[in-house]
Amino acid sequence: MSRWAELTGGNSGADYASRFASLAASGVDVHGEATLCASLVPPGSRVLDAGCGTGRVAIRLAELGYDCVGVDLDPSMLAEARRAAPAMTWIEADLAALDITPGFDLVLAAGNVVPLLAPGTEAKAVTLLAGAVRPGGLLVAGFGLDAAHLPVPPTAGLAEYDEWCAAAGLVLERRFATWDRAEYRGGGYAVSVHRRPG
Ligand SMILES: C[S@@+](CC[C@H](N)C(=O)[O-])C[C@H]1O[C@@H](n2cnc3c(N)ncnc32)[C@H](O)[C@@H]1O
Repeated sequence: MSRWAELTGGNSGADYASRFASLAASGVDVHGEATLCASLVPPGSRVLDAGCGTGRVAIRLAELGYDCVGVDLDPSMLAEARRAAPAMTWIEADLAALDITPGFDLVLAAGNVVPLLAPGTEAKAVTLLAGAVRPGGLLVAGFGLDAAHLPVPPTAGLAEYDEWCAAAGLVLERRFATWDRAEYRGGGYAVSVHRRPG
C-alpha cells in the first residue's frame, strides 16, 4: 500500500480537490508546477503526469496546449480528475508497475509522489518513470526531504534519487528549491530536472 493510501485511507479525492479550489479562489497561484513544466518544454509536448491525483497539474497543462496523460493509484483522486476533465486520459495504475508506451517529452512527479510511494518501491518506480522519457526528454520531480516538508517520515534523499535516475540513464540538469525556480541551496524541498541524453 502506498504511503499516500496509508495517510489518507484512499478516500481523500474530494477534500484534496476542494482544498485546491479554495486556495485558487482566494487568489493563491496553484499552478506553479504547470508553469515550470511549460517553461521547460513547448506546447504540444507529450506529458505524463505520474501520481496525477485530481489532475490539477495535467489539466492546467492541457489548457496551455500540452498533450497530457495522468496516472494514479487512488480511485478517489482519479474520480475528481475524470469529473473535471472527462475528455482527458486518466489511467489507474501503480507507478511501481507502470506499463505505458514510452516517448514522453516530459514526465512529471509533483506533490511528493516519490516519498508517498509504497516503502521499498521507490527505485523501481523511478526506473519506470525514467523509462517513459524519450531521448532528449525530461523527468521533473518535486518532493520534500525532511519532516517539515513531508506529511510522512522522510525516506529517499536527493543522493539516492539521483542514483536511481543515473542508473536509468538520466542526467541531472537543474535543481530548484521551489516550483517558481528559486535556486536550490540545500533546503528541505527540491524540484529536480533530469534529462535523458539524446
Ligand atoms: C499529494 S498527492 C499529489 C497529486 C498531484 N500530483 C498534485 O500535485 O496535486 C500524491 C499522489 O501520489 C499518488 N501515488 C502514490 N503512490 C502511487 C503509486 N504507487 N502509483 C500511482 N500513484 C501513486 C497518490 O495516489 C496521490 O494521488
